[in-house]
Amino acid sequence: MQTYVNQKIKPITTTTNSKGNLEISGIDLTELAKKYETPLYVIDEVTLTKMANDYKEAFSKYEKTKMTFASKALMTSAIAKIFHNLGFGFDVVSKGEIYTLLNAGISLDKVSFNGNNKSIDEITFAMDNNIDHFSADNFYELEKLNEIAKAKNKIQKIHIRITPGIECHTHEYIQTGQTDSKFGFDLNMMDLAIEKILNEYKNLKLVGLHAHIGSQIFETSVYFDEVKILLEQIKRIKDKFNIELSEINIGGGLGITYTKEDNPPSVFEIADTIINSINIHCEKFGLNKPVLYIEPGRSLVCTAGFTLYTIGSSKEIKELNKKYIAVDGGMADNPRPSMYQAEYVAEIANAKTGENFEKVTVAGKFCESGDILIKDIMLNNPKQGDILCVYDTGAYCYSMSSNYNCVLKPAMVLINSGEDDIIVKRQTPEQLVQNDVIPKRYR
Ligand SMILES: Cc1ncc(COP(=O)(O)O)c(C=O)c1O
Repeated sequence: MQTYVNQKIKPITTTTNSKGNLEISGIDLTELAKKYETPLYVIDEVTLTKMANDYKEAFSKYEKTKMTFASKALMTSAIAKIFHNLGFGFDVVSKGEIYTLLNAGISLDKVSFNGNNKSIDEITFAMDNNIDHFSADNFYELEKLNEIAKAKNKIQKIHIRITPGIECHTHEYIQTGQTDSKFGFDLNMMDLAIEKILNEYKNLKLVGLHAHIGSQIFETSVYFDEVKILLEQIKRIKDKFNIELSEINIGGGLGITYTKEDNPPSVFEIADTIINSINIHCEKFGLNKPVLYIEPGRSLVCTAGFTLYTIGSSKEIKELNKKYIAVDGGMADNPRPSMYQAEYVAEIANAKTGENFEKVTVAGKFCESGDILIKDIMLNNPKQGDILCVYDTGAYCYSMSSNYNCVLKPAMVLINSGEDDIIVKRQTPEQLVQNDVIPKRYR
């Protein structure tokens, strides 16, 4: 059976070269670590492009698909440029993400603005730069959107975000579509929102419904149900308000394989399920086929990304038969293990003579006992100075990184068929303190 990018743990270009070193996209990782130092985020453009093209192919059966990349998974100017060149639009949630797009020379005509508490400044900035649409999340936002659009003499296209009441089996913090969620209108409140838009908010044009049911999803059936609920609501709105909304946005969420226990469907399976559900329910409810927005994040970039660390100190606890090895990064460059108990696979990138696997726990360098990157992993004779490659760090690592302990953020390198290009420079100590201000009386 064919396995697709999101069903693999490693980038699709991973091999071992003649020196016995790990090689990805024609690049010797040990050499790469020497050249750019560690910790280092690396993105394999070949794997990323393959996944993006699989998405496009899988949804090409439904002509009215609009593909957007959920920027929150990984946003840098170069990554934005890559997705833009592949024909993707963007889902953004902040002024900073919009600014990054503009910095990359990308206009906002294929961009939707999500989020549960957009500020007036953010709304104004997005409208001034002609964003395509907002996904309005609550009554407060509707009022602000209308006020700002009115002041600009604009009719602003919007979707409204709803919580469809679907629970999927993923971590509590990355479930978003269940009724008890901070996001969106629940189905009871939605009608009131529509009434207000139609009767009071004359500068808003409601064209669609948006939902996002969660992240790291392994079940295809939840997408079938989500589309059904969105179309059921469009039918109900049509009957009640005499308008037929022409767009649905089903969010992102497709899972990836972090460890061999993970078993996500392929993008082709979810595309078929979604398209099937649209066909069945449009026919059943007598609706026109809607424009379909999808906004995946993790599944587009996660497998393409990995992080290189250098192994430093180690500690053995004899009575517990336990060994820690520490690397030069940790929870500040990858907060997911400490936040979500996320699990990762890693291996030593430099050549080893023979096999002498031992069970170790990979600890970070930050001042928190919880700064553990991987618990109980088998590594081949890990030693000080070895380069450790942690797979599947392309999503929600750099974008969630911090300067905890005033540790500098790592650089990011894009690799492709033997070429390597820096796309985010390593942070400098000067940059770390550039916004610090010492009050006059202490100078
Ligand atoms: C509204 C919305 N859309 C899309 C995404 C992307 O989800 P994923 O990265 O799981 O594909 C998220 C993630 O939280 C989201 O909140």
